This record gives sequence, structure tokens and C-alpha cells, in this order.
Amino acid sequence: MSAICEAGPAHAAALSAMHERVFPKAPWNEAAFAALLRQPGVAALIHDANGFMLLRTVLDEAEILTIGVLEKRRGTGAALLREGLRRLRDAGVQVVHLEVATDNAAARALYEAHGFVKSGLRKAYYENGGDALMLRLDLSSPVAQRS
Ligand SMILES: CC(C)(COP(=O)(O)OP(=O)(O)OC[C@H]1O[C@@H](n2cnc3c(N)ncnc32)[C@H](O)[C@@H]1OP(=O)(O)O)[C@@H](O)C(=O)NCCC(=O)NCCS
Repeated sequence: MSAICEAGPAHAAALSAMHERVFPKAPWNEAAFAALLRQPGVAALIHDANGFMLLRTVLDEAEILTIGVLEKRRGTGAALLREGLRRLRDAGVQVVHLEVATDNAAARALYEAHGFVKSGLRKAYYENGGDALMLRLDLSSPVAQRS
């Protein structure tokens, strides 16, 4: 059975190494992860060194800052998302936001399967000129309750 554990500033190097493999064009170094993880409301999950997710919670709203998986299509992304959403729900969060590139079919399918819906579109949001889709999930919605 796979394990998901909560990560803190002590895991900054491991998170940075994984992040660089998943997002080679946008590395976040160890210091950046350590600083982020010291911020109030920021939490990270690591899945068996195969994936990670960062979340930021402010009052009853949260944002998925990043999620990434090394060996893909083994269910890691879905497991991380489920666990992250479960923790947010338990913490009293009502709404979860995220932003995803419109051409990121894998991530969009993952989020949509968990009930995220479009809340906006940011044209030319990324450095490469790509658009960002804004998604939101109401954690009290029936589809979110199932995940
Ligand atoms: C998006 C990402 C986290 C998915 O993780 P994963 O472990 O490969 O996904 P899973 O195996 O858990 O798949 C869960 C669901 O996601 C969707 N999905 C995942 N990969 C997909 C692909 N290549 N094409 C279409 N749908 C896909 C499917 O709905 C899938 O459910 P299914 O297997 O029942 O069809 C992974 O592809 C990744 O790390 N991508 C690069 C980083 C990234 O883009 N992060 C998101 C930034 S917003």
C-alpha cells in the first residue's frame, strides 16, 4: 500500500529535487520550498517519493499551489488529490481553487474527474504565452463528497 505523508521545511531538498524533475523549465530551489513551507497555511504532501502536492489555506478557502508526479499513470496524482482534499475538508475548507494550463490535458482530466469546474480564464498567463484556466471545487458539492 502506498504512503502519503505530510512534509515540512525539512523536506525542502527532496521537494525541490522532485519539482525540478516534473517541471524542469520552472525549478523551485530548496530555499524557495523552505521559505514557502514556513508560511502560515502552507502544507505539503509527499507520496512515496513519487509525487508531491502543495496547498495553501486561508480561512475557509484553499489553493492547490502545485502537484506533480514522477512516474505517471499509476494513480499517484489521484491519490494525492484525494488525500489533500480530505485534509482540507477536515480542516473546514469550503472552496478549493487552482490554475492549470489550458493545454495540460492530463491535469485537467484529473481535476475535472474530482469535480473541479471552470471559474475563469487568464489569457497569456504563462511565460510561454499559454492561457491559464481557473478551476474551483466546492467541497460540499455531491461530486466532491464522492472523492
Ligand atoms: C497531472 C498529474 C499530476 C497526474 O498524475 P498521475 O499520477 O499521472 O495521474 P493518475 O494516474 O492518478 O490519473 C488520475 C486521472 O488523471 C487523468 N489523467 C492522468 N494522466 C492523464 C493523461 N495523460 N491523459 C488524460 N488523462 C489523464 C485521468 O482522469 C486519470 O484517471 P484514469 O486513470 O481513471 O483515467 C501528472 O500528469 C503530472 O505530474 N503532470 C506534470 C505536472 C503537472 O502538469 N501538474 C499540474 C499542474 S496544474
